[in-house]
Amino acid sequence: MSENVIFCYSGTGNCLDMAKNIARGLGDTDIIMMRRAPTVTDVRGAKRVGFVFPCYAGGLPGGVEESLNSIQINPVSYKFAVAQCAAYPGTGLSIIDSLFHLDYWQVVTHQCSCIWLFPHTMMMPPLTPEGAQKRSESEAARIAHEVLGLKRSEKPPKANPLNKIESAAWPKLSGKKAKGFSVSSMCIGCGTCVKLCPKENIRMIDGKPQFGTDCLQCLSCLQYCPQEAITIGRITEKREHYHNPNISPDELVKSIIHID
Ligand SMILES: Cc1cc2nc3c(=O)[nH]c(=O)nc-3n(C[C@H](O)[C@H](O)[C@H](O)COP(=O)(O)O)c2cc1C
Repeated sequence: MSENVIFCYSGTGNCLDMAKNIARGLGDTDIIMMRRAPTVTDVRGAKRVGFVFPCYAGGLPGGVEESLNSIQINPVSYKFAVAQCAAYPGTGLSIIDSLFHLDYWQVVTHQCSCIWLFPHTMMMPPLTPEGAQKRSESEAARIAHEVLGLKRSEKPPKANPLNKIESAAWPKLSGKKAKGFSVSSMCIGCGTCVKLCPKENIRMIDGKPQFGTDCLQCLSCLQYCPQEAITIGRITEKREHYHNPNISPDELVKSIIHID
């Protein structure tokens, strides 16, 4: 086992990019992806264990909380977590803290991947897309430095009660939203969406994707579509698409990524 382990969920690459940049600063790190149930859960051999994940509707992405329950960490390991979000981190950090007692946690805002709600350039504090990426990279370097120095956060992360209500309502809303997916005549049937869907919710029928309703709203399919052929209602047709510039679809679907 590597000296460091980072569990990571990422729909549009921001969190995987953050996890990789932290791992580069730490050295010898396995990034274990949580888009599906993680393939390794016993990390009692790791000295430092981290979690990097986005805020979805005030909470953790679907399935992550269930997967966290299966993870075994040595009680003496150093534990840290980073939430990425467009504006507010939601309840995710406090959920992870309640399970593993975090030594250190951080919030980093980046571009908004929720295309039907806001343009991707919506983030707090406001920044240019290039500025947001640059800041995320410098935050990752700082976080790695502080993790190596075993820095401790002064206070535990707090959960806003409004975010709890929002995240409890989300599973119903995201299922409803999933009914709105469609594909335009631009689709070339390349299958990128099928490969990327963490829920196997997209099937190729007669060369065109068909969408079911078992959807986490990670939006990997829509944001990584090379033809920008996938839409959810009219608003997404008009909005500029976004995925992290450093993360490819092939990398996003790996189950473990090792960084020396
Ligand atoms: C379905 C969905 C819900 C989101 N909800 C929130 C939210 O409640 N608060 C927030 O600040 N950002 C929210 N975001 C923005 C993401 O947290 C942000 O874009 C993050 O950087 C995405 O990380 P990723 O590229 O690794 O998936 C949401 C994004 C999606 C797709």
